[in-house]
Amino acid sequence: PYASETLLRASFFDFTALASQPDDIAAHARYLEDGLLTLREGKVVSLESWEIAEGRVDAATVIDLRGKLIVPGFVDTHIHYPQTEMIGAFGEQLLEWLNQYTFPVESQYHCPDHAAQMSAFFLQQLLSNGTTTALVFGTVHKQSVDALFQAAQQLDMRLIAGKVMMDRNAPEYLTETPEESYQDTRELIERWHQRGRLSYALTPRFAPTSSPELLEKVRQLRSEFPDIWLHTHLSENQQEIAWVKSLFPERDGYLDVYHHHQLTGKRSVFAHCLHLEENEWQCLHETDSSIAFCPTSNLFLGSGLFNIKRCWQQGVRMGIGTDVGAGTTFNMLQTLGEAYKVGQLQQYKLSACEAFYHATLGGAHALDIDDKIGNFNPGKEADFVVIDPAVSPLQKLRSANSKDIWERLFVMMTLGDDRNIAQTWVSGKPVWQRDREEAIV
Ligand code: GUN
Ligand code: ZN
Repeated sequence: PYASETLLRASFFDFTALASQPDDIAAHARYLEDGLLTLREGKVVSLESWEIAEGRVDAATVIDLRGKLIVPGFVDTHIHYPQTEMIGAFGEQLLEWLNQYTFPVESQYHCPDHAAQMSAFFLQQLLSNGTTTALVFGTVHKQSVDALFQAAQQLDMRLIAGKVMMDRNAPEYLTETPEESYQDTRELIERWHQRGRLSYALTPRFAPTSSPELLEKVRQLRSEFPDIWLHTHLSENQQEIAWVKSLFPERDGYLDVYHHHQLTGKRSVFAHCLHLEENEWQCLHETDSSIAFCPTSNLFLGSGLFNIKRCWQQGVRMGIGTDVGAGTTFNMLQTLGEAYKVGQLQQYKLSACEAFYHATLGGAHALDIDDKIGNFNPGKEADFVVIDPAVSPLQKLRSANSKDIWERLFVMMTLGDDRNIAQTWVSGKPVWQRDREEAIV
């Protein structure tokens, strides 16, 4: 092997191709009980069984992680980095929760030092939970996004983020004019979009904080930068939906507010989508827009139950989001465990196979970056998680009583948490290791 190659021996699990129905996922699952992953220059060269690779490699050059399970890095398709410090705020549903807790905390991100400190903390939370890529909300302040991109660039993480755009129905200290919003966003796009592994997402907060004039500026930016992402909220809470209808009586429902301004499309990601009308499902399908399903947030704010089955039937791409700080954990294993319970309440059986698909390749597909990340196919960027399948006495007991990989994965998403994340690798390098309890880089 080349001196610049990195070789890892462990168990591996991933999905080698996309699925269009839940029943098709298992056919694309790959499990190697004893495998060898070869990396070069931050990319995957190959994943093979140890038996086949053994003869060709010098054992002394292999990083031996036998006993661990390596999966592709988790993809968090919806999260707010400035809400890290207010996670777990008591008692309110969406609109009161925003006014009482969220807006005051977000006001602090006008300060670049605060933004830098919290960016570093936030990225450590992602990495220590095995999440290597995320689609992230900043605040209205452009310095919030500068700080986050700077920190992500140092780690060489694949990250998509944007400055919140809002010009009404929020405290004055967090609003801007449509023209200011346009100028600040444009400046950030020119500074960060497609720089290394960073990409920009236009981020109008949601319809209620957007005037038609602001949405027109978003449309304009989208036409000026056609490869840009769009990230917002849709149909999360019944009161919110009624409010949108009263603010935009001329539009045919909530999604039409965005669609009218040409904000739907392949790189548009709508968080929540809990109470969609027939024509809204249809519109998401026809425009090839995608959804971020955020189970812990939907349960915590009492917003509602996402219809996973309907999403498949409509052929709409979907990924998992933690939605911290309305979501209650950065951890994808715990988030999948809650997604399972959301399914249970609707007689939908979310298998571990399907759950891990959404958290990896499916999430990458929802963000339209499945050509770059999401599995161990040759040429993919080498972002992955080394999982310790059982760390506590209870996990060890339960794991010993599991008959196959499917049951072990299911137990992991039911009992697992950040203790199970042994290492996290980004661009072919270890960036986090649990037994050091801190960043390596
Ligand atoms: N809708 C508009 N803003 C927000 C937010 O910050 N969190 C959630 N969950 N929903 C929103
Ligand atoms: Zn959100």
